[in-house]
Amino acid sequence: MNEHDHSGPGEQAQRAAEYERWLSAASLSARGIRWWMGPLGQWFANAPLYRLKANLKLDQTVRLLDIGVGRGTVMRMLDDTLECDRAPVGLDASRAILRQAAADEDNPQRGAGLVQGSATALPFANDTFNLVLCGHLVKHLDDDDVRALFIEVRRVLEPGGLALVWEFGPTGYRPLDAWNARTLATGVRRPRLRSTKTLRRLAEESGFTFTRDADLRPFLLPPIPRASILIGKRPDEG
Ligand SMILES: C[S@@+](CC[C@H](N)C(=O)[O-])C[C@H]1O[C@@H](n2cnc3c(N)ncnc32)[C@H](O)[C@@H]1O
Repeated sequence: MNEHDHSGPGEQAQRAAEYERWLSAASLSARGIRWWMGPLGQWFANAPLYRLKANLKLDQTVRLLDIGVGRGTVMRMLDDTLECDRAPVGLDASRAILRQAAADEDNPQRGAGLVQGSATALPFANDTFNLVLCGHLVKHLDDDDVRALFIEVRRVLEPGGLALVWEFGPTGYRPLDAWNARTLATGVRRPRLRSTKTLRRLAEESGFTFTRDADLRPFLLPPIPRASILIGKRPDEG
């Protein structure tokens, strides 16, 4: 699928249901995705996130929301590294992966919030977080739902807050992109590969006035390029 592909209503719910089945299955690919979201897999899947503290000059005042949190590996890594004053919150549509995230938690006293919900209808009050992460999720949303996600992210971000969004992107070579899309559709159908430029445009259409190419790299597994954007609500924005 390419970045001009559109689909009908209800597709987001279908993709979430596919994730739920895939993430709780016993197949080889299901084991693979669960490993990829786990402590070792995330070094290969999300390597640039392990440098986020230095890159964004983050400290313990971070109030973190991770949308599409999976097993919560990146969320916990950041919470441990930053020693956040407030426990982070991770949201995911899949109950199966949230059960796994809870089982992975080695410090239940920390009280990290794991919330089942939709990326496009966040169950949080306005201005609740100052850092939002959303990794490897937007390929499952059509353009209208990506805009709905960005509008929600902007709503829950406090003024001065930042959000980092990254996803598999196109290479610019159609046959390879078709191959990559097929690979990514193993457990969940119809992934959309959008460029950084397209993600920035969708963020701007959703009200973000600060958008940048986050240029996150390297991502090692799978060896498919990523698009990544850093977007923010300016301190004087309501
Ligand atoms: C490929 S995993 C990415 C996990 C982690 N963020 C990472 O980068 O490794 C995508 C996650 O997003 C969740 N997800 C997919 N669509 C969603 C939606 N519309 N709302 C909330 N979560 C969703 C899936 O259940 C899955 O756990």
